[in-house]
Amino acid sequence: MSTESVDLGRDDPYLPTAWRERRTRISSVADVVELSSAFRASKTMLSAVELGVFTELANGPLDGEQLRTRLGLHERSAADFLDALVSLGLLDRDDEGRYANGAVADQVLDRAKPGYLGGVMEMRSTRLYQFWGNLTEALRTGQPQNEARTGGDPFSAIYADPVRLRAFQRAMSALSLEAVRELARKFPWERYRTVADLGCSEGALLGQVALRHPHLRGTGHDLPAVRAGFEEYVAGLGLSDRLTFGPMDFFIDAFPTADVLVFAHILHDWDAETKLTLLREAHDALPKGGAVVVLEALIDDERRVNTFGLLQSLNMLIETPGGFDFTAADGRTWLAEAGFRDIRAEHLAGPEGMLVAFK
Ligand SMILES: C[S@@+](CC[C@H](N)C(=O)[O-])C[C@H]1O[C@@H](n2cnc3c(N)ncnc32)[C@H](O)[C@@H]1O
Repeated sequence: MSTESVDLGRDDPYLPTAWRERRTRISSVADVVELSSAFRASKTMLSAVELGVFTELANGPLDGEQLRTRLGLHERSAADFLDALVSLGLLDRDDEGRYANGAVADQVLDRAKPGYLGGVMEMRSTRLYQFWGNLTEALRTGQPQNEARTGGDPFSAIYADPVRLRAFQRAMSALSLEAVRELARKFPWERYRTVADLGCSEGALLGQVALRHPHLRGTGHDLPAVRAGFEEYVAGLGLSDRLTFGPMDFFIDAFPTADVLVFAHILHDWDAETKLTLLREAHDALPKGGAVVVLEALIDDERRVNTFGLLQSLNMLIETPGGFDFTAADGRTWLAEAGFRDIRAEHLAGPEGMLVAFK
């Protein structure tokens, strides 16, 4: 396991092309102009996912009128919308005017396929897109711009509706899947018998770890509303005998006992003091020799390369009162302050990395 700062693998297929090639996205005036309207391309794809374009076409090509009718599109919008998707490389159109999914879109944007990433995109389309419209205000005020703007709490707002809650949980799994597969591969799980995932959502992390390491038993801990989705997901993987759910509010309830405690996309929700408090609690709860794993879109230490992590941190500005993403160096500092030793950072997949530390 590397002890250097996180090195992003050059060959990682989950990294965006510009990043893999170690270049910024802007090197010409045309690039500036393109980025200024990138929100249009982004929303066109997000609406296509929301409308189920790729799911409709997964069953075979359709002509423009068939597709328009099935999707319930207005006559005025359909051709431009579908052809814009062709120009983006998300759809193909043959000489007879029939539309089909592009290869990558078919793999990750068809709801019926196991590789579906659209759960995240549905959430981006129906929630985050409008909230990001208030980014300038967030930058000026430091205040969240989601449901909290009108006095609500985003988790309560999402969790009050079981359909939104399941969609949120699926989105979390889709975002994490490649990184947690790498976590299952790269962490020395053979040294441990039990793992507890704090803020587990659907259980994708525990699922991948348990599938790869049959000797492990795990508990997922999260707010009580999350239980049904967790249990359904874990049963679907055939792991209900080894993975169980424990309702927990980590600001009120005692931390669970396990050899390894995991925080995946948890610390970035909270301000620095709360991050430290959670790590201290984890340190207290672990046995001697136990490990903590922090999984996040770790920003590179020089804060120059990981655009995803930096924009994810702005997303925390939009979504939370005090949350922010951080570098491996920041994480090391907090882990050391909380009492951990042998702190290591390692790249997982795409923009995601992990910090591992021991008691
Ligand atoms: C950003 S999601 C991360 C989910 C998952 N770990 C992953 O990486 O996909 C944050 C999770 O923290 C949970 N959470 C928020 N506040 C919590 C609290 N006070 N106690 C326990 N869990 C909480 C949420 O329910 C949600 O599942």
